[in-house]
Amino acid sequence: MKNSVMLICVLCFIGLTVNSYSENTPHNGSHGMRHEMPSVKDERISLGLSPAMKQHQLANMRNHVEAVQSIIGLLSEGAFDKASHIAYSKLGLTEEMKKMCNSFENENFKNLGLAFHKSGDALGDTLKTKDITKSLGALHTTMTYCVQCHATFRQ
Ligand code: HEC
Repeated sequence: MKNSVMLICVLCFIGLTVNSYSENTPHNGSHGMRHEMPSVKDERISLGLSPAMKQHQLANMRNHVEAVQSIIGLLSEGAFDKASHIAYSKLGLTEEMKKMCNSFENENFKNLGLAFHKSGDALGDTLKTKDITKSLGALHTTMTYCVQCHATFRQ
């Protein structure tokens, strides 16, 4: 009993500590009361998006992660054609994605976005071969863009 009370206290403390270190709380900065935490400072390049663009981008991103999840599930069932269709339509360079990428002012971000979507089309091509090893390699290449962009840019 005593132990579980202790555990809850410790967990609360960890929760509070993590929360106070978080940079992305909605009021951060607006009251000038938070301490600067240089060790956890977000050094990524900001895209300076408007609130509407932020929501649009995040919704797009959630679609991307869902597409990857679907592709992995379909691969585990050997459903290469369906996986290929998702790669083209959700990760590939569709007209909608081309427009979206081209709307960004940051040239490096734009180019990274376009290269990422081209890799989505290449993934679609590779999945059509029904070769699991090649397909996983192509998915890895596409996901390398996710990782690279997230490491470099923030909203
Ligand atoms: C060209 C850049 C770029 C690429 C490529 C990219 N993202 Fe993102 N993504 C972003 C940015 C910018 C954010 C916002 C991050 C921030 O401000 O902290 C983001 C946020 C996200 C989020 C958070 C969504 C939310 O609602 O909070 C998810 C999930 C995500 N990306 C998944 C992916 C996946 C999966 C891929 C690859 C299949 C991918 N992204 C490729 C730029 C990119």
